[in-house]
Amino acid sequence: MHLINFKGLSGQQLMEMVDKAIEVKQNPEKYGKALDGKSLAMIFQKTSTRTRVSFEVAMTQLGGHALYIDWRTTNFAIADIYDETQYLSRNVDCIMARFLRNADLQVMANASRVPVINGCDEKYHPSQAIADLMTMKEKKGKLKGLKLVYIGVHNNVCNSLIEGCTKTGVKITTVTPIFNKPSRDNELLEEAKKTGLYETTLDVKQAVKDADFVYTDTWVDMEFFTDPKFAAEKEKRLRLMMPYQINKELLHGSSAYIMHDMPIHRGYEISSDVIESSKSIIYEQSGNRLYSAKAILLKLLGKY
Ligand code: CP
Repeated sequence: MHLINFKGLSGQQLMEMVDKAIEVKQNPEKYGKALDGKSLAMIFQKTSTRTRVSFEVAMTQLGGHALYIDWRTTNFAIADIYDETQYLSRNVDCIMARFLRNADLQVMANASRVPVINGCDEKYHPSQAIADLMTMKEKKGKLKGLKLVYIGVHNNVCNSLIEGCTKTGVKITTVTPIFNKPSRDNELLEEAKKTGLYETTLDVKQAVKDADFVYTDTWVDMEFFTDPKFAAEKEKRLRLMMPYQINKELLHGSSAYIMHDMPIHRGYEISSDVIESSKSIIYEQSGNRLYSAKAILLKLLGKY
């Protein structure tokens, strides 16, 4: 079993992963040797703080071992992903990969003899969404019937939230004036629409009115943030997106919890005072990446 997105998982299976993450957080000692002798290869084409740290610490705390591999320092950079994965999957028990392109991750998954976890590509970010759902359930004691509003650019995080929410009974409204073309997955959106739990609007004021959670993400993906070739597009995005910033004015009258998958760009998608407000659960949410990683590793390595 791989975890590329949530397409192969039922709502119940996804819910089990969320509940496992909560249980592992509450009973860390029970899982201290669960992955004794197991190795996770973590290979990155892009930068990361949370995904790298959470999976590496998760392996240590579960009794296993993780190897951080920078793509550029390996022969993946000069050879076929298929061939290199044939080797890699003979020496480790699981692979977590952060690739630029989902198509390359699919090649890796096809070549691998061991489970492959998507550490965030241009289409999906499943380990983030499990941490998000876990955080929401911790706050409200349930998922079914909750309402989340995602405000920002329709991207990989947005896709996985849509899948995760609609499969676990959470109503999700997206307010996304910009759609990242490489993130488009019509099948995912059609499946979400069928549940009656997904809608999209540009009426941001109306959308946040009765929201339990308001969620945002960067307007510019990490690989482009400091890229001079993307400077004009970045300026265009900032102009278009500023009216959709999460700030006190937008949240007036709202009692929603505030979420962000991080890294944050203060003063852009979210104002500093909202990050620091009592309704912000952003840092707590980021801390839950560790338990999301543990639940995923335990599942994929056959421990529940
Ligand atoms: N949210 C997230 O995936 O963080 P990193 O990019 O730091 O891993």
